[in-house]
Amino acid sequence: MQQPNMLRGAVFASFFAVLLLCGAAADEAPSWPQPDPAGLADSPQKDEILYGERLIRRTFSVIGPEVEDPAMRYAGNNLACNSCHLDGGRQRFALSFIGAYDAYPRNMARENEVRTLTQRINGCMERSMNGRALPDDSAEIQAMIAYMRFLSEAAPEGMEGRSSPPLELLDRPASPAAGKEVYVTYCIACHGADGQGARNGVAGDGEGYLYPPVWGPDSFNSGAGMHRLINSARFIHANMPFGATFDYPMLSVEEAWDVAAYINSHGRPEKTGLENDYPDRSRKPVDAPFPPFDDDFSMDQHKLGPFQPIIKERERRSGP
Ligand code: HEC
Ligand code: HEC
Repeated sequence: MQQPNMLRGAVFASFFAVLLLCGAAADEAPSWPQPDPAGLADSPQKDEILYGERLIRRTFSVIGPEVEDPAMRYAGNNLACNSCHLDGGRQRFALSFIGAYDAYPRNMARENEVRTLTQRINGCMERSMNGRALPDDSAEIQAMIAYMRFLSEAAPEGMEGRSSPPLELLDRPASPAAGKEVYVTYCIACHGADGQGARNGVAGDGEGYLYPPVWGPDSFNSGAGMHRLINSARFIHANMPFGATFDYPMLSVEEAWDVAAYINSHGRPEKTGLENDYPDRSRKPVDAPFPPFDDDFSMDQHKLGPFQPIIKERERRSGP
């Protein structure tokens, strides 16, 4: 564990140095809270919150496919929630959980019904983690919710930063071929030429990844939010290469779209039954990369864009 983390620290530090050279003074950044449960007074609540944090940061070691107890193997891949919800869900515009507790229950397009935070977590369990749902009353769900609730107590009033950040749309389809060039330049050092990332230790040890895979059998499945181009490009532009932030991105807008298209052009586990998602088709995200749609745009355009014409057509149909 120790050595790879140091290595990652070194790579991160060099990116950070580049950021500083670019004149990104840390104190210019708006202040986004960094609540740390380690500072809480000892109590059973604190233990539960810390268990929730461990589940988010080191998912693979508690409910991953390689843990000792087969009954605890809920996740189907060795990612962590932290692979996408960066810094334990504390990083601004990196799918932060700060504020998420207060946002549920709410009506979700994917099911066209009101969903609880438990159901939302299990959505990521079944798709991003390519696994199975945790029972509602499990200690694991309760602990993750306790942690998200703790984080959300610090949510800054009226400040944007939860979820994924906005990103300009392109007026052309995103190009996987151009994205390959971007990948080779900016991503290969950590995620590898084969997209399989690098393990913390060795496969089978339940220790997960130093750098997660971005496609292939141990990645998120075809029904995951990250498999939609808009989500993926937004996340990448604001957060990758690792060390980039929303305020100081390292990729151009076009590079982010193209590299997202390149990543999503590779194979990954297939989620079955996707045709049942978004029963109200008018609420189906324009970039859902699977049929059916109730419009005449090609599947390719839903996968790669341009999305503006699809959005315009939707607006035209739904009236002023
Ligand atoms: C492969 C990336 C990825 C992984 C891994 C992942 N998620 Fe997510 N998660 C997303 C994306 C993308 C979204 C939001 C976009 C969407 O799905 O429409 C999201 C949304 C969420 C939300 C809703 C947040 C909000 O602000 O409304 C919760 C809660 C959540 N995830 C919990 C988890 C938990 C818990 C885990 C681990 C068990 C996890 N996720 C693993 C990508 C991921
Ligand atoms: C310095 C190493 C590094 C570089 C370079 C890098 N990443 Fe990452 N990436 C990470 C780490 C680390 C995580 C997971 C966060 C964590 O574990 O803290 C991650 C997570 C991701 C994820 C979400 C998790 C998953 O498994 O899919 C995507 C997508 C991603 N990176 C894409 C890219 C792209 C595209 C580039 C190039 C533009 C890139 N990364 C460059 C280190 C890196």
